[in-house]
Amino acid sequence: MNSLPANNPDWLVKKIINMGGTISFYDYMNFVLNDPINGYYGSGKAKLGIRGDFVTSSSMSDDFAFLIGKQVEDWLIQFKCILLSNKKLAVIEFGGGEGSFMSGLIKYLLGSSKNLLKGVSFIIIEPNKGMVEKQKNKLDDFLNLGIDISWKGLEEVEENNFNGIVIANEVLDAFPVERITFSKGKLFRQAVSIDKKSSRLFLDEMPITSELGKSIEFAKSKMGITIPPKDALEGWTTEWHVDNLKWLKALYRRINNGILLIIDYAKEAEKYYTSRNSDGTMVTYKNQKMMNNVLVSPGNCDLTSHLCVETLINDAENLGFNTVGITKQGEALLALGLAERLYGIQEEFKEDLSNALLRREALLRLVDPVCIGDFKWFVFNKFNEKKMNINSTCFG
Ligand SMILES: C[S@@+](CC[C@H](N)C(=O)[O-])C[C@H]1O[C@@H](n2cnc3c(N)ncnc32)[C@H](O)[C@@H]1O
Repeated sequence: MNSLPANNPDWLVKKIINMGGTISFYDYMNFVLNDPINGYYGSGKAKLGIRGDFVTSSSMSDDFAFLIGKQVEDWLIQFKCILLSNKKLAVIEFGGGEGSFMSGLIKYLLGSSKNLLKGVSFIIIEPNKGMVEKQKNKLDDFLNLGIDISWKGLEEVEENNFNGIVIANEVLDAFPVERITFSKGKLFRQAVSIDKKSSRLFLDEMPITSELGKSIEFAKSKMGITIPPKDALEGWTTEWHVDNLKWLKALYRRINNGILLIIDYAKEAEKYYTSRNSDGTMVTYKNQKMMNNVLVSPGNCDLTSHLCVETLINDAENLGFNTVGITKQGEALLALGLAERLYGIQEEFKEDLSNALLRREALLRLVDPVCIGDFKWFVFNKFNEKKMNINSTCFG
């Protein structure tokens, strides 16, 4: 049994004791991120940006949203021209964080395509009320301008009725995952238990459910993913992304004609499920520091894991999505004009060297190949009415 003791808040201790003293890692991750009162995102205490706990591409500056804005604008124009001249188009953002992406995107479209913007609704799908409040504050000026922005649950989007673009930037990495662990020659579901005397949490094991067992078998027969990998040592652990398929399925049902852009940390299966990657990819972030102890400061920091490239594509394609392409963030942003923005800084900040340097640093971080620049962009589409040959500038 692997044990990483940590101090624990009463709310979580009570919750775990009420559930019998042991919960799955999936439940643990869900509680510490999404509990409406105490969860990191649920309560709204998540702080994004250079002065927060961690940066997202959109929280550093408007550059990221402006560059994606070009792609969104281009896709919307193609939708209007080729297929849906009279249909209302929409842009959905999943997991809006502090509202930076949506704010940047609308700013870009206001400057570049005011007429196009009039015919588009913007929807944020955000289950965490604490974050919705932050998003509403950030987008207040646009709401006052009469821009059509709304907050919805996915279940409120009518089936087979959505036409437009869906974007999920750094969201799927926050979906709760199961963790599978190899112990004494068998696979277990990782669990979190409480030591009743000290009220400390420790990592524990519970039996694999039949559903998990089936999905591991399926991954082996369909994609050749072997869990545990050959040569795995005692305690080898990995993440298993059980919510991606459910999420994609719910989305697929609602899209009539649409493009889905998912951006996130992701590893190929051959790097993810190897004996050398013996503790998966799960980490926590607080005050810009990354930690490997997944039980540290529950509810006060972000908890995140990489996606697996092949399982995500397989889930999407099995449902009927068509894969348009996959690329690295650095390459996508260069194709969308990041270098031109970099040159433009000199002109824009002629008299203001310190701000010019800050902007330059933020832009370079977006393409840094050992960090955010290595994020993967997955583009999928589904067209019910007419097959469209959509052109995507992000693929160069
Ligand atoms: C790291 S932030 C992403 C920030 C944002 N997309 C950006 O570009 O800055 C993760 C966001 O996903 C939200 N989230 C978590 N689970 C979600 C789910 N199942 N559906 C939609 N959003 C979710 C969190 O509340 C949070 O707002």
